[in-house]
Amino acid sequence: MRDIADIRADFPILSRKVYNKPLVYFDNGATTQKPQCVLDAVDEVYKSYNGNIHRGVHFLSDMSSEGYEGAREKVRSFINAGRKEEVIFTSGTTGSINGIAFSFGERYIKPGDEIILSRLEHHANIVPWQMMCQRKGAVLRVIPINDNGEIIPEDYHKLLSKKTKLVAVTQASNALGTVLPIKEIIEAAHSVDVPVLIDGAQGIQHGFVDVKALDSDFYVFSGHKIYGPAGIGILYGKEKWLSELDPFQGGGDMVDKVTFEKTTYNQLPFKFEAGTMNYPAAIGLATALDYVSGLGRENIAAREKELLLYATDRLSAIKGLKIYGTSGKKISTISFLLKDIHQYDTGMILDKMGIAVRTGTHCAQPVMDYYRIDGTVRASLCFYNTLEEIDSLAEGIEKVKSMFG
Ligand code: ALA
Repeated sequence: MRDIADIRADFPILSRKVYNKPLVYFDNGATTQKPQCVLDAVDEVYKSYNGNIHRGVHFLSDMSSEGYEGAREKVRSFINAGRKEEVIFTSGTTGSINGIAFSFGERYIKPGDEIILSRLEHHANIVPWQMMCQRKGAVLRVIPINDNGEIIPEDYHKLLSKKTKLVAVTQASNALGTVLPIKEIIEAAHSVDVPVLIDGAQGIQHGFVDVKALDSDFYVFSGHKIYGPAGIGILYGKEKWLSELDPFQGGGDMVDKVTFEKTTYNQLPFKFEAGTMNYPAAIGLATALDYVSGLGRENIAAREKELLLYATDRLSAIKGLKIYGTSGKKISTISFLLKDIHQYDTGMILDKMGIAVRTGTHCAQPVMDYYRIDGTVRASLCFYNTLEEIDSLAEGIEKVKSMFG
């Protein structure tokens, strides 16, 4: 892996100050910062070749379309999908899950059918399924967790039944950092012919994702979590499913022939891309994926493991600090609380020291309910963070403690 100072120099925002203090950015679970090459790629679209994709016969439209379709191929290769027709651009993870929950529900779900989720899900992988269940008279079943914040595999196996129509689980918990055994989850579901959707929002930035090796039916993620722009996301689906499902949105470009009597749909992947897509962001995402590949995904995973271990040691040594999420398999995310100090106060004071963490339920209220707490402080680290920044966090936490006596 390249030298850390060199890597940090790729990200202009990392050298800024907040409240006249060096920025320590530990909110990478919420969104990651962007390297200059991504900023340049998006800027270049608007400056030099902006034209609506798939629409015009003119030069600019052709160039934008080429950039957009090139980006689709980059995503395909990055997640090792079989065909680029299986890669649909959306607005983000939330857009992808809502879309599939709608189309899958309309096509396959009957009253009494069951969808299995885990207790570790982000609201984006709960609410769309709940809405679908309400519409179709289906039922949500939830894989429970233990005190380490891990799912209980035996309970998952018990939930799988003839009524199960889909399993939708996260690759890694955004609130606790737990990495789920998605390969085993998929194998067990497939053994009873049930398809699986993996929410890769937190997983994609931390390691290698191979949808073919996983045999995942659907895999979704957001561009902004992997150093790309906001407003772009991916819905990967096996061709078998995507060709059977109807579109979740209607509009321009997703159609073949339109009359007032009947509309026929465009072929994959365009059938699921209604209206003008966010092509500059798609092109920016492709640049971000190149950047990540350039650093090396194994290198990123190894560095983040080192950061996680160091941060866990440093924070565990602080008296009165409790870490939530103590699985041996975690992404570089640490959720914690200080005894008798509200998470919001901790976050606000750290902020004044230039340290950005997230506080609250992290859009994962069922996880907080399990621990009977109303939120945590979450430090989510990534490869551009340093051991010195972790030291600053630990010192900052000690200061918070001393302020509260
Ligand atoms: N889902 C994002 C997070 O975990 C916003 O912070």
